[in-house]
Amino acid sequence: MRLEQLTLQDFRNYEQVSLGLDPGLNIFVGDNAQGKTNLLEAIYVLALSKSYRALRDADLIRQGASSAVASARVRKLASLDLSCVLSLTEKKRLLVNGKATTANNFVGNLNAVLFSPDSLQLVKGPPGERRRFLDIQICQIDPVYRQTLLEYQRVVRQRNSLLKTAQESRAQLQLLPAWDRQLVNLGTRVTARRQAVVEKLQMYAREIHREISGEREDLQLVYEPFFGQAASGLSGEELKAIFREQLQQLRAEEIRRGLTLIGPQRDDLLFLVNGMDLKKFGSQGQQRSAVLACILAQLELMQAETGEYPVVLLDDVLSELDQGRQLQLLTLLDAKAQTIVTTTSLSAFPQELAARAAIYNIRQGRIA
Ligand SMILES: Nc1ncnc2c1ncn2[C@@H]1O[C@H](COP(=O)(O)OP(=O)(O)O)[C@@H](O)[C@H]1O
Ligand SMILES: [Mg+2]
Repeated sequence: MRLEQLTLQDFRNYEQVSLGLDPGLNIFVGDNAQGKTNLLEAIYVLALSKSYRALRDADLIRQGASSAVASARVRKLASLDLSCVLSLTEKKRLLVNGKATTANNFVGNLNAVLFSPDSLQLVKGPPGERRRFLDIQICQIDPVYRQTLLEYQRVVRQRNSLLKTAQESRAQLQLLPAWDRQLVNLGTRVTARRQAVVEKLQMYAREIHREISGEREDLQLVYEPFFGQAASGLSGEELKAIFREQLQQLRAEEIRRGLTLIGPQRDDLLFLVNGMDLKKFGSQGQQRSAVLACILAQLELMQAETGEYPVVLLDDVLSELDQGRQLQLLTLLDAKAQTIVTTTSLSAFPQELAARAAIYNIRQGRIA
């Protein structure tokens, strides 16, 4: 799939911009703080219905304006118009072909994969980064998962508040079994789906990583569910039984702390190279290669699941790779997916690629 046209109105530092995009490689060049990341963020919002870096939707609205619009024409088998309308005073509106729709029906129309300097946190950072990486990906290919995940998060919040009130009034504990059932039903579905995706992702990532590392290293992705044993091969019923049993054991502790202590909000993903934990022992270069392999694997997974490659967003990452790797990465992407890259300097680019890319300059929220 590809983005044919992008229009922004009062989005971040853009007052009004409308541009056509090349089906292949697009390079946006600009100094710091000119709007490069803002542009990719707008595309991301159209893919996921919300930003990955704004705390509130209102932050996306240009200072001094009261509403903002990001719209795109997406080309798949047919073309599709997507819009996200933000306002300081009204609820966010999401439109597909001019018709208002729910976030669940909106997400999945435009699929995007983002690679930024922060992506290194995927290996180095806390487990939440890795869960988010998986969730963002699964939500784009599976609206049922998205619904299940949101529902699960709501159950955890409500169950936590019940556990807190139970500290004062024990009678509240009668309500707990009903919440436990929902927690277990939804939670096992979340864990099982992530586990299945990691198994597929692993197939692609391992192959890609072998190439990147010159055949020397073997990358393995291992999903580590909260209950401390591998979930692969376990049936839904077996997962539920483990979850229920651990809840029983933790009951007193959960009440004491007023908190749900187990569930997929505690899952993690392990990166192993030749059997060694990359988070603890990997060099910067090894961590970077693993992240790159994962992101490229994500493209293949999305293609396999939806029939289309996602749009690839590369925010200021080429400076992180040596020239050989840059060329390798961009050539690979160029042949497969529409790629939108930002950079502070075009001279850092391999010339043969720059020669056939569409190049734009960004300055103070204007694109030329
Ligand atoms: N809501 C907003 N309204 C107006 N300007 C904004 C808003 N949010 C961010 N900016 C401005 O956008 C600029 C940063 O843009 P960004 O895309 O992150 O830069 P870069 O080109 O370095 O990636 C800063 O000048 C910041 O003040
Ligand atoms: Mg930036």
